[in-house]
This record gives sequence, C-alpha cells and structure tokens, in this order.
Amino acid sequence: MKDKAAYVRGMFSAIAGRYDLLNTLLSFGRDRHWRSSTVSALGLIGGEAVLDVATGTGRLARELGRRMGVGGVVVGLDFCPEMLHRARGKAGSAELLLATVERMPFPDNTFDCATVGFALRNVPDVERMLRETARVVKPGGRVVCLEFSRPRHPVFQTMHRLYLSFILPLVGRLISGDREAYVYLPRSIMEFCEPEELHRLMGNAGLAHPHSRPLTWSVVAIHTATKS
Ligand SMILES: C[S@@+](CC[C@H](N)C(=O)[O-])C[C@H]1O[C@@H](n2cnc3c(N)ncnc32)[C@H](O)[C@@H]1O
Repeated sequence: MKDKAAYVRGMFSAIAGRYDLLNTLLSFGRDRHWRSSTVSALGLIGGEAVLDVATGTGRLARELGRRMGVGGVVVGLDFCPEMLHRARGKAGSAELLLATVERMPFPDNTFDCATVGFALRNVPDVERMLRETARVVKPGGRVVCLEFSRPRHPVFQTMHRLYLSFILPLVGRLISGDREAYVYLPRSIMEFCEPEELHRLMGNAGLAHPHSRPLTWSVVAIHTATKS
C-alpha cells in the first residue's frame, strides 16, 4: 500500500455514517463490553486527564467520560473529519481534536493515561504511534489498547477465518455500500502482529510491563502497558 495514512483516512471518511452500526452488528453487540473493559483496565479513580487516541466516532471517549464523573478531562483525537463529525454530540463532554497520531499537539507528560481503540492496525508505523502516545502520557501512566486479535484454538481459528472471509465482507458491503473497506478490515486483522511482537514494540516505545488480556475467545485483546 503506497500511502497507508491517506488510504485509511479516505476509507473511514467513506464509512463514517455506518461505522457505529456495523461495529455493533459485526461484533454481535460485544463492542460495548470491549470498550467498557478497556476503560476498566485504566483503573481510573476520577479526576484524570485521559487521551483517547484515534477516537473515531467517540464511543470510547464517551465511556471514559461516563466512568470518570465530574472533574476529569477527556480529549479525543483523530485525523478523519467525518469520523469526528459523528463523534460530536456522541462523545459526551470530551474535547475533540483533528490531528494525526504521529504528531500530537500536546507537550510531553500532559495526560494521566491514554486509550487506543482499534487503531493500531490502521497506522503505517505502530511503534511510532506508541512512542508518540507514551510521550504525551505522564510517567507511571497507563496506555491501554483495544485491538482485534486471532484465536489460537484450532476450532475457533477456523470459525474466525470463515467469519472474516465470508460473513464480515458481505455484511459490511451490504450495509456500508463500500466493498473495499470490508475487504481491508479482515485483511488488516489477519496481518496484524502477534501480542509478543506488540509487547516488543511497546517496550521500544518506552512502555513497560506490557501484558495482553484476550476477550471473547480471543477475537479481541486488551493490551496494557505503563510509561516508564
Ligand atoms: C477503527 S476506527 C476506531 C475508532 C474508535 N477508536 C473506536 O473504538 O471505535 C480507527 C480510527 O483511527 C483513525 N486513524 C487512523 N490512522 C490515524 C492517524 N494516523 N492519525 C489519527 N487518526 C487515525 C481513523 O480515522 C479512525 O477513526
């Protein structure tokens, strides 16, 4: 892929209107639980400043705001105006910002912690994104990434492959009208690195003690690490 960032931005701008609906349908409604577990992994006590990297339509940002109560600050950042447009009004009290994850407009050590929802697969350079996220988080702050994963059990693996190869592209195309986006999605899931490799990238980016927690038969995983 020549310019992955431009391709990804164009794709999300085309499917922004149907993104939330497809998220819910294609995950059989589990996406709500996945986002809620991601926020739980931050161990919020209230009053924190939290960054939601690649916030998209702002669903994770809304969950963050809901769980933090008064006194906290949530900032959602994304480079796709159409996705951010959908986030307005949905992301609760979160501040929304148009910017790239490769160069975030914040000084070092601005946030207490950060989340990254389903965006690692979509950036050209995962380590660079993690390094930039680590830069804006305070030492000791957690970075929690929610990402699609691949089951290791052979039976679930086969079911997962069938789902990604046939059902997901069909339902995605019928509802979004965009064939390309729902060919890209399963391919990006199949090609994404294993947790062990992600842990190595996290370490290189200055994020210590990485660990991964699989959810829903390892269809997704929550990867957590702490800024050293
Ligand atoms: C699959 S969506 C995830 C949205 C949201 N985090 C969620 O949990 O539903 C991926 C998002 O990453 C954003 N994105 C991808 N690459 C980016 C980059 N280089 N800079 C900023 N945002 C990016 C896209 O615009 C898109 O909104």
